Amino acid sequence: MTLWGGRFSGSTDERMKRFNDSFSFDWRLYAVDIQGSGAYASALQRAGLLTEDEQQAIHAGLEQILSEFAEDRFAAHPTDEDIHTAIERRLTELIGPAAGKLHTGRSRNDQVAVDLCLWLLESIQRTHDHLAELQAALIDQAETHISLIMPGYTHLQPAQPVLFSHWIMSYFWMFQRDQARLHDCARRASVCPLGSGALAGNPFPIDREALAADLGMSAVTPNSIDAVSNRDHIVEFLFCAALIGTHLSRLAEDLILFSSPGYRFLQLDEAYTTGSSLMPQKRNPDSLELTRGKSGRLIGNLVGLLTVLKGLPSTYNKDLQEDKDPLFDAVDTLNMTLPVVTGVIETMLPNGEAMNAALDTSLLATDIADYLVEHGVPFRDAHHVVGRLVMQAEQKQVPLASLSLGDFQAESPVFASDVEDSFSFERAISRKNVPGGTATEAVNHQITSAKERLADHQGSARSSSE
Ligand code: ARG
Repeated sequence: MTLWGGRFSGSTDERMKRFNDSFSFDWRLYAVDIQGSGAYASALQRAGLLTEDEQQAIHAGLEQILSEFAEDRFAAHPTDEDIHTAIERRLTELIGPAAGKLHTGRSRNDQVAVDLCLWLLESIQRTHDHLAELQAALIDQAETHISLIMPGYTHLQPAQPVLFSHWIMSYFWMFQRDQARLHDCARRASVCPLGSGALAGNPFPIDREALAADLGMSAVTPNSIDAVSNRDHIVEFLFCAALIGTHLSRLAEDLILFSSPGYRFLQLDEAYTTGSSLMPQKRNPDSLELTRGKSGRLIGNLVGLLTVLKGLPSTYNKDLQEDKDPLFDAVDTLNMTLPVVTGVIETMLPNGEAMNAALDTSLLATDIADYLVEHGVPFRDAHHVVGRLVMQAEQKQVPLASLSLGDFQAESPVFASDVEDSFSFERAISRKNVPGGTATEAVNHQITSAKERLADHQGSARSSSE
């Protein structure tokens, strides 16, 4: 029998039942559903709606159901429409009529809403931990290889020399912003909707603040109509996931390029590459290609849920059941992808020789222009002069540094023999010593501050789970 069968005389069409049921996927909420029910039973008891014996029977029954799920021996019944009905059905089998009192004043609408908040909070914590591991691996590579210089690119064209460490740390900061966004999302997911009833509020004197505190949540929702259909925090998480996916995809793309035979700036470990069934020489970066591909589903999940929500009238509508697939998929995708990318970063080997070989003196053209600027030439004119020198070098098919002082002076009398000093990649690097620049000192400073941020995060993650 269904939980809502009272006013129905006929039975549900079999196809409709399959269409309507969500147990096949929302069973994953079992632990948070049981947590929510346990806290709600205590709230009912405090309000005088359950005796202490009834409350204890409910708690014991819920404990048993929790272990049945955890040990994979929960026997689902064909009438288990969703996780909420499944648990209530089983509780009734275990403890009898007291189970029927648990739903007093509660609706599946505020029940599923609080379940999702709790599930999301746990998932945010796990995503945070995975991201922190990846960030630690990035810092590690940056520290180990602080002396390596490589070409920096814009438009994929060689632009200016940068430290390898500066490049790899750029991803640390992207993920750091993702961490901040997740943290912010968790604040909003921590507002408790339980006690909103179906839409109008709970008719019994339950203490919602105490209930929220029991669940480790920080506040109660201020409006029951909003509370039962609010999925903003899930959308926010899906946005965080989509943006993490976008950052991972860009990192993957850089690594695919830099490890390819055209660059050889780094070698990926065999553990994260695969061979070709046809071409024996191939070593394909499948780990990274999949990472790049997974960003597509993360973005799709966000757009999918926004589309589900946009036309909904007030309060709960069954469309909301479609919130779970994208959420579960995003969490699963991140949990699977992030550790692989961390492994790729931890095991890859930067190749300083290949980076060196790619350092062409044309990367120093801006430094030559800066030389003129330091001697009083307006930058626009200096840019033009060096442009002509680059053209000359191209025509003669020699590196820029091989032009003679005479060639330089023919373009501008300001050049003197000390212009040679500008043909140094190390010097070009050390000149960018502003905060956020690629000078070794600035990058070391960046690394120190990154480590502090990471330690802060770990500290706050621990204290919030205590
Ligand atoms: N399975 C439903 C969902 O995921 C639970 C809430 C159902 N509420 C209702 N009134 N039918 O959204």
